[in-house]
Amino acid sequence: MSKAHFGLIGLGVMGENLVLNAESNGFSSVVYNRTYSKTAEFLDGRGLGKQITGASDLKDFVDKLERPRRILMMIKAGPAIDAVIDQISPYLQEGDLLIDGGNSEFRDTERRVLDLESRSFGFIGMGISGGAKGALEGPSMMPGGTKSSYLAIESLLSKMAAQVEDGPCVTYVGPGGSGHFVKTVHNGIEYGIEQILAEAYDLMKRICGMDCSQIADVMAQWNKTEELSSYLVEITEICLRKKDSDKEGDIVEKILDKAGQKGTGLWTVMSALELGASVPTIYAALNARVLSSMKEQRILAESILHGPSQKNLVSDNTSIDTASIMDAVVLSSIASYAQGMELLRIASNDYNYNLDMPSIAQIWKGGCIIRSRLLKRIQDAFNLNPELSNLLLDPWFSDQVNRRISGLAEVVAAAAENGVPVPCFSSTLDYLNSYRTGRLPQNLVQAMRDCFGSHTYQRVDKEGIFHTEWLS
Ligand code: 6PG
Repeated sequence: MSKAHFGLIGLGVMGENLVLNAESNGFSSVVYNRTYSKTAEFLDGRGLGKQITGASDLKDFVDKLERPRRILMMIKAGPAIDAVIDQISPYLQEGDLLIDGGNSEFRDTERRVLDLESRSFGFIGMGISGGAKGALEGPSMMPGGTKSSYLAIESLLSKMAAQVEDGPCVTYVGPGGSGHFVKTVHNGIEYGIEQILAEAYDLMKRICGMDCSQIADVMAQWNKTEELSSYLVEITEICLRKKDSDKEGDIVEKILDKAGQKGTGLWTVMSALELGASVPTIYAALNARVLSSMKEQRILAESILHGPSQKNLVSDNTSIDTASIMDAVVLSSIASYAQGMELLRIASNDYNYNLDMPSIAQIWKGGCIIRSRLLKRIQDAFNLNPELSNLLLDPWFSDQVNRRISGLAEVVAAAAENGVPVPCFSSTLDYLNSYRTGRLPQNLVQAMRDCFGSHTYQRVDKEGIFHTEWLS
């Protein structure tokens, strides 16, 4: 019997869909799952009549694959990956390749690449985005590891990936854990945009008095614009239109307001803090999830703490229109991408990843959760200037900021006056105002540091390091 082209470990929804995707692109496959009953169920169900066989143990699985073996692991990130590597490596031979397609922490991937390569195997850490549908129909894939390992799977991945006008949504990202790092940052941007759309919904509901169906109509309009046309706006409309199964009311209004998280948003922010990258919009989205999970405390606080009192307000500008909310959504989305790309640029230098920014924008244009028309503009911006330090400095993006910042400011002001939290919008406004300010008040911070701790400071009028005896 001829050997299979491709092996998959882990028959969760993503694993099943990816192997069906590979098979439909002409790659005969063999599958393995820790519990064989799951394998049997898949082979009798969705895998029936396909060029897919099953294996009951890892030796049998490895034996059924042609060499060099190409094995995708779709299992829970963390110790389970190391456990499977330990179990399968006795059966592997020189040149065989393991691919981790989960949301692994990039430092774990760095370690695994070094470990596996020291044993003459290949290891690719590959971010995969697109959810279950994307996995089946074409995800965006972010593989990192050695180039030679990537080349062994390039033809397979190029066929499996989403296709956009300038090619498949996969590329060789870079060495070591770079693929998983790029996926982590993708998810940080994803957190940002999800929260931005949630803030827009909250303002339209609580300040504009709109219901889910009216807000969905606005999302539908936004999805037709170059600035906001995106998968996340598209599914926001779908979520807002969905009725509860009993047809009584909107399902969104019945969902508990506590957002979960699996770690990638946190890792994005941790990396940014470590690398000295400024990601306030993304951080605000992460923190919004943290605060949302404190439901019991919030309920208690609601009866104790009050918002701004309308009668004390200096202005009565407490209402907003959806055009201004669109300004806020556009600029905050742009800020999320700009902050994510900036983090990638800094990490690329620090970790020697040599990331190609236009290629990253390109592979995010299709298949993934943050796919949007804006990514074409982002790709163009980095093609125009590969040394671009921040997307906001590109002419198209700076024009967006200059045209929309007043709208964003109006929205943040109205939200503040109404006591409605808009963490991403207000962080974005502060980010933009800080970034465009040539002189910030950190001169005074430096003075204080020098006053109490002799930390020294530099001057604007002459070179050198200075200290003042502040208290004498
Ligand atoms: C994707 C998603 C996917 C997953 C997120 C959800 O790109 O397909 O990012 O990987 O749905 O990890 O993350 P949270 O549970 O942390 O929101």
